[in-house]
Amino acid sequence: MSENKATEKRIRKSYRILIIIGVIAIVAGIIGLYFGGPSEHSMTPTDIEKEVIKNGLDSRTGFIEDEGMQTVINNCTTCHAAELVTQNRMTKDGWLATIRWMQKSQNLWQLGDNEEIILNYLAKNYAPEETGRRAPLKDIEWYALK
Ligand code: HEC
Repeated sequence: MSENKATEKRIRKSYRILIIIGVIAIVAGIIGLYFGGPSEHSMTPTDIEKEVIKNGLDSRTGFIEDEGMQTVINNCTTCHAAELVTQNRMTKDGWLATIRWMQKSQNLWQLGDNEEIILNYLAKNYAPEETGRRAPLKDIEWYALK
Protein backbone atom coordinates (compact mmCIF):
# COMPACT_ATOMS: atom_id res chain seq x y z
CA MET A 1 0.00 0.00 0.00
CA SER A 2 2.65 2.51 0.99
CA GLU A 3 4.68 1.58 -2.08
CA ASN A 4 1.66 2.37 -4.25
CA LYS A 5 1.33 5.76 -2.63
CA ALA A 6 4.99 6.51 -3.23
CA THR A 7 4.57 5.65 -6.90
CA GLU A 8 1.48 7.83 -7.10
CA LYS A 9 3.42 10.66 -5.53
CA ARG A 10 6.24 10.28 -8.03
CA ILE A 11 3.78 10.25 -10.93
CA ARG A 12 2.07 13.37 -9.59
CA LYS A 13 5.42 15.06 -9.24
CA SER A 14 6.39 14.33 -12.82
CA TYR A 15 2.99 15.58 -14.01
CA ARG A 16 3.57 18.80 -12.13
CA ILE A 17 6.96 19.21 -13.77
CA LEU A 18 5.42 18.60 -17.19
CA ILE A 19 2.72 21.19 -16.52
CA ILE A 20 5.31 23.75 -15.40
CA ILE A 21 7.38 23.13 -18.53
CA GLY A 22 4.22 23.45 -20.61
CA VAL A 23 3.28 26.77 -19.03
CA ILE A 24 6.81 28.10 -19.55
CA ALA A 25 6.68 27.06 -23.20
CA ILE A 26 3.32 28.79 -23.72
CA VAL A 27 4.48 31.98 -22.01
CA ALA A 28 7.68 31.97 -24.04
CA GLY A 29 5.62 31.47 -27.19
CA ILE A 30 3.35 34.41 -26.39
CA ILE A 31 6.33 36.64 -25.59
CA GLY A 32 7.91 35.56 -28.85
CA LEU A 33 4.76 36.44 -30.79
CA TYR A 34 4.53 39.88 -29.26
CA PHE A 35 8.17 40.87 -29.30
CA GLY A 36 9.64 38.78 -32.08
CA GLY A 37 7.98 40.88 -34.78
CA PRO A 38 6.06 39.40 -37.65
CA SER A 39 7.52 36.23 -39.02
CA GLU A 40 7.57 35.75 -42.77
CA HIS A 41 4.63 33.40 -42.47
CA SER A 42 2.38 35.91 -40.81
CA MET A 43 3.22 38.71 -43.26
CA THR A 44 0.37 40.03 -45.33
CA PRO A 45 1.01 40.79 -49.00
CA THR A 46 1.11 44.52 -48.22
CA ASP A 47 3.80 43.94 -45.61
CA ILE A 48 5.91 42.15 -48.19
CA GLU A 49 5.32 44.92 -50.72
CA LYS A 50 6.31 47.57 -48.23
CA GLU A 51 9.51 45.78 -47.50
CA VAL A 52 10.43 45.19 -51.12
CA ILE A 53 10.02 48.73 -52.52
CA LYS A 54 12.52 51.16 -51.03
CA ASN A 55 13.04 54.67 -52.40
CA GLY A 56 11.16 53.67 -55.52
CA LEU A 57 13.46 50.73 -56.17
CA ASP A 58 12.78 47.06 -55.78
CA SER A 59 15.07 46.18 -52.88
CA ARG A 60 15.91 42.73 -54.19
CA THR A 61 16.66 43.53 -57.84
CA GLY A 62 17.16 47.30 -57.92
CA PHE A 63 14.57 47.81 -60.64
CA ILE A 64 12.74 51.14 -60.68
CA GLU A 65 9.18 50.70 -59.50
CA ASP A 66 6.80 51.33 -62.35
CA GLU A 67 4.09 49.65 -64.35
CA GLY A 68 5.45 46.41 -65.77
CA MET A 69 8.28 45.98 -63.27
CA GLN A 70 7.05 42.60 -62.07
CA THR A 71 6.81 41.34 -65.65
CA VAL A 72 10.39 42.44 -66.26
CA ILE A 73 11.56 40.77 -63.05
CA ASN A 74 9.77 37.57 -64.00
CA ASN A 75 11.27 37.44 -67.50
CA CYS A 76 14.63 39.16 -67.24
CA THR A 77 16.29 37.96 -64.04
CA THR A 78 16.28 34.19 -64.44
CA CYS A 79 19.40 33.89 -66.61
CA HIS A 80 21.47 36.81 -65.42
CA ALA A 81 21.60 39.39 -62.69
CA ALA A 82 19.16 42.28 -62.77
CA GLU A 83 22.18 44.60 -62.88
CA LEU A 84 22.90 43.50 -66.43
CA VAL A 85 19.56 45.08 -67.33
CA THR A 86 19.60 48.09 -65.01
CA GLN A 87 23.15 49.11 -65.98
CA ASN A 88 22.04 49.58 -69.56
CA ARG A 89 20.37 52.56 -71.22
CA MET A 90 18.72 52.05 -74.57
CA THR A 91 15.97 53.31 -76.78
CA LYS A 92 12.93 51.11 -77.33
CA ASP A 93 14.50 49.87 -80.58
CA GLY A 94 17.71 49.13 -78.75
CA TRP A 95 15.91 47.10 -76.09
CA LEU A 96 13.99 45.22 -78.77
CA ALA A 97 17.22 44.42 -80.59
CA THR A 98 18.74 43.14 -77.34
CA ILE A 99 15.71 40.93 -76.73
CA ARG A 100 15.83 39.59 -80.31
CA TRP A 101 19.54 38.88 -79.90
CA MET A 102 18.90 36.92 -76.69
CA GLN A 103 16.05 35.05 -78.35
CA LYS A 104 18.26 34.11 -81.28
CA SER A 105 21.42 33.18 -79.44
CA GLN A 106 20.69 32.84 -75.72
CA ASN A 107 17.48 30.80 -75.62
CA LEU A 108 15.31 33.64 -74.41
CA TRP A 109 11.70 32.53 -74.81
CA GLN A 110 8.96 34.26 -76.80
CA LEU A 111 7.55 37.02 -74.63
CA GLY A 112 4.12 37.29 -76.29
CA ASP A 113 1.95 40.08 -74.91
CA ASN A 114 4.55 40.73 -72.24
CA GLU A 115 7.02 42.00 -74.85
CA GLU A 116 5.23 45.33 -75.24
CA ILE A 117 4.91 45.70 -71.45
CA ILE A 118 8.61 44.98 -71.00
CA LEU A 119 9.68 47.28 -73.84
CA ASN A 120 7.56 50.16 -72.56
CA TYR A 121 8.91 49.74 -69.06
CA LEU A 122 12.54 49.59 -70.21
CA ALA A 123 12.25 52.40 -72.76
CA LYS A 124 10.69 54.66 -70.15
CA ASN A 125 12.86 53.86 -67.14
CA TYR A 126 16.14 52.88 -68.79
CA ALA A 127 16.27 55.30 -71.69
CA PRO A 128 19.53 56.79 -72.94
CA GLU A 129 20.44 59.89 -70.98
CA GLU A 130 20.30 62.90 -73.21
CA THR A 131 21.59 65.37 -70.68
CA GLY A 132 25.03 65.33 -69.16
CA ARG A 133 26.98 65.21 -72.40
CA ARG A 134 28.54 68.42 -73.50
CA ALA A 135 27.80 69.71 -76.98
CA PRO A 136 30.49 69.01 -79.57
CA LEU A 137 33.20 71.67 -79.68
CA LYS A 138 32.85 74.26 -82.44
CA ASP A 139 35.04 76.96 -83.95
CA ILE A 140 38.28 75.60 -82.64
CA GLU A 141 41.56 76.86 -83.94
CA TRP A 142 43.54 73.71 -84.22
CA TYR A 143 47.27 74.02 -84.30
CA ALA A 144 49.91 71.58 -85.29
CA LEU A 145 52.17 70.17 -82.64
CA LYS A 146 55.81 70.69 -83.40
C1 HEC B 1 17.18 32.62 -71.42
C2 HEC B 1 18.13 33.41 -70.69
C3 HEC B 1 17.96 34.92 -70.69
C4 HEC B 1 16.86 35.62 -70.33
C5 HEC B 1 15.54 35.11 -69.82
C6 HEC B 1 17.20 37.01 -70.50
N1 HEC B 1 18.48 37.13 -70.91
FE1 HEC B 1 19.49 38.88 -71.16
N2 HEC B 1 21.16 37.84 -71.60
C7 HEC B 1 21.28 36.47 -71.61
C8 HEC B 1 22.66 36.11 -71.82
C9 HEC B 1 23.21 34.68 -71.86
C10 HEC B 1 23.37 37.30 -71.94
C11 HEC B 1 24.85 37.49 -72.11
C12 HEC B 1 25.41 37.51 -70.70
C13 HEC B 1 26.83 37.88 -70.65
O1 HEC B 1 27.35 38.40 -71.63
O2 HEC B 1 27.40 37.66 -69.58
C14 HEC B 1 22.41 38.38 -71.79
C15 HEC B 1 22.72 39.72 -71.83
C16 HEC B 1 21.83 40.75 -71.63
C17 HEC B 1 22.16 42.16 -71.72
C18 HEC B 1 23.52 42.72 -72.01
C19 HEC B 1 23.66 42.79 -73.51
C20 HEC B 1 24.96 43.36 -73.92
O3 HEC B 1 25.01 43.82 -75.05
O4 HEC B 1 25.90 43.34 -73.13
C21 HEC B 1 21.02 42.85 -71.51
C22 HEC B 1 20.86 44.34 -71.50
C23 HEC B 1 19.98 41.89 -71.27
N3 HEC B 1 20.50 40.61 -71.34
C24 HEC B 1 18.68 42.21 -71.00
C25 HEC B 1 17.68 41.28 -70.80
C26 HEC B 1 16.28 41.62 -70.66
C27 HEC B 1 15.72 43.02 -70.73
C28 HEC B 1 15.61 40.45 -70.47
C29 HEC B 1 14.12 40.27 -70.29
C30 HEC B 1 13.33 40.51 -71.47
C31 HEC B 1 16.59 39.38 -70.48
N4 HEC B 1 17.82 39.93 -70.69
C32 HEC B 1 16.30 38.05 -70.28
C33 HEC B 1 20.26 35.56 -71.41
C34 HEC B 1 18.99 35.87 -71.03
